[in-house]
Amino acid sequence: MRVDVVTIFPEYLEPLNVSLVGKARARGQLDVRVHDLRRWTHDRHHTVDDTPYGGGPGMVMKPEPWGEALDDIIASGAPAAPGEPPARYEGIDRRVIEEYGEHLDVYEVSIGDYVLAGGEAAVLVITEAVARLLPGVLGNAESHRDDSFAPGAMADLLEGPVYTKPPEWRGRGIPEVLLSGHHGKIARWRRDEAFRRTARNRPDLIERCDPAALDKHDRAL
Ligand code: ADE
Repeated sequence: MRVDVVTIFPEYLEPLNVSLVGKARARGQLDVRVHDLRRWTHDRHHTVDDTPYGGGPGMVMKPEPWGEALDDIIASGAPAAPGEPPARYEGIDRRVIEEYGEHLDVYEVSIGDYVLAGGEAAVLVITEAVARLLPGVLGNAESHRDDSFAPGAMADLLEGPVYTKPPEWRGRGIPEVLLSGHHGKIARWRRDEAFRRTARNRPDLIERCDPAALDKHDRAL
């Protein structure tokens, strides 16, 4: 998979060189290209923004550098497949989105109901969340099977609590069932704990889940 990031803060994307994403890149499973938008400016000050038409606070990113950047990046082979979007962030002159939306699928992606200073942190979040789903990127192919938000039996539930050695730490033991070796009971316990944690932390997920996805046990909780 290829990800092209256009930014005025390329150093903000340095974390994509470490950990899971960094390893996936080193192995050639993920191709991340970070581009400095200022490369596509032609004035002495490398201007990328200007005041908004109609007045008001803040600045708006000028369409010309974005247009030249996207033309070059698209010509270099991205998006690799139809449907791969150039990301779009608030604050870019709207005509850029209209222009590229005519030939490409342009998606507006929000990572949550809060406002960031720029799109860079959102790019880190999206790239990491997507990269770990690529085949071969996670060490154990099963490790995202029970993830919060993964499809399947635990769909719509957050992951429950997890434990490792030692069996006792600061006087705290671990749930007996996990030592039982009884796979059915362990699965049942995990599901119940996931359900409880979701009901406590994200009740909205329970409310909007498909009632058919809940079993008798869930309803009893
Ligand atoms: N840019 C600024 N805030 C953002 C958010 N919450 N999600 C995605 N991009 C953003």
